[in-house]
Amino acid sequence: MAADGLSQASVFFCGARGKERSGSMIYLDNAATTMVKPACVAQAVCAAMQSFGGVGRGVHPASIAAGMAVYDARERLARLLGAPSPTRVAFSHNATMALNTVIAGLVPDGGVAVTTAASHNSVLRPLFRARDERGVRVEVAPIGPDGALDYDAYEALLARGADLVAVTHASNLTGDVYDAARMARAAHEAGAVFVLDAAQTAGCYPVDMGAIGADAVCFTGHKSLFGPQGTGGVAVAEGIEPAPLLEGGSGTHSFDERHPSFMPERLEAGTLNAHGLAGLAAGAAYLEERGIDAVAAEVRALVERFEARVRAIDGVRVLGGGEGRRCGIVALNVGDVDSGVVADRLAREFGICTRAGAHCAPLMHRALGTEAQGAVRFSFSHLNTAAQADEAADALARIAADESAR
Ligand code: ALA
Repeated sequence: MAADGLSQASVFFCGARGKERSGSMIYLDNAATTMVKPACVAQAVCAAMQSFGGVGRGVHPASIAAGMAVYDARERLARLLGAPSPTRVAFSHNATMALNTVIAGLVPDGGVAVTTAASHNSVLRPLFRARDERGVRVEVAPIGPDGALDYDAYEALLARGADLVAVTHASNLTGDVYDAARMARAAHEAGAVFVLDAAQTAGCYPVDMGAIGADAVCFTGHKSLFGPQGTGGVAVAEGIEPAPLLEGGSGTHSFDERHPSFMPERLEAGTLNAHGLAGLAAGAAYLEERGIDAVAAEVRALVERFEARVRAIDGVRVLGGGEGRRCGIVALNVGDVDSGVVADRLAREFGICTRAGAHCAPLMHRALGTEAQGAVRFSFSHLNTAAQADEAADALARIAADESAR
């Protein structure tokens, strides 16, 4: 949509076996990684790689330039996420690392943690590890076959008390966006700290930490924030002090035996990925300039357009939708065809990039009944176009027709 994104890359699929096509691709795997980024992101990374020293590791211009870029990223992320201040934003490699940090760092041994079946493995696996190794009781609120959370069941679980709630803002499988403010209220009434996984929403759907009442919001840079892979982090509320996952060089207080306890150094050890964070800052600046509400509206329009078209195709089952709010994702299946077969045909015959199979969200697949088939996930960014959405729907219609004729 916006003209200053890089043009859709021209690629050639290799290994022709008859049906492969060569030519330009339509990239609809933005929920995994946005590939088409605003041009300013790559420019910022290139410039950083040619001019940055280590953040906080020197007083020379190269180090100061890196420090200023990282602080710029902190300021922008704090504004985009509604965090209390830039110093409450700590950077890490991705949302997974941030979630591991806050989950391990906030749930006490023998405590109680609550999540939902919509959670990604980056929430589930740290929780199950805490269960197995630290005696944490893990409760999982159910998701219905339409992708909606059973809020009554969630609140009933919390009524028994909890120390930590870690939930996803939006399912990475169906795109359903959950009522984070309602979940946070119930968590706080139970005395729990509320951690929100915003991997799928930050950058394409409003995330306001203050309005939600989240104690920690984990984000990744490489999806809708348009940053490079290897960037992400967590915004933590005042008074929430997770135990760090890593300790090491901090650039300050070098004679202290222990890592600094103050934010953001508390949750950052070792040299930061300032090159990547310069790109993340550029992505965030691009989003700020356009406004998240406007970007979210463009993504919503693409999703609604695509969803209306694919719902009209015989044999297509669109997954989820039970929450009535979606981020940029439409996941579906064609009859009982393996999702990998559909995604493979989309890529090879139509040049359309999607993700298939299981999506690191095992309990969500179980709730939707797609453990065996997986799901074909189309995920949009606002840099996609309506014509691309239509082309993808047309391609799916062709595949559905072929498969039903088999
Ligand atoms: N969590 C990312 C996805 O959903 C990788 O594709």
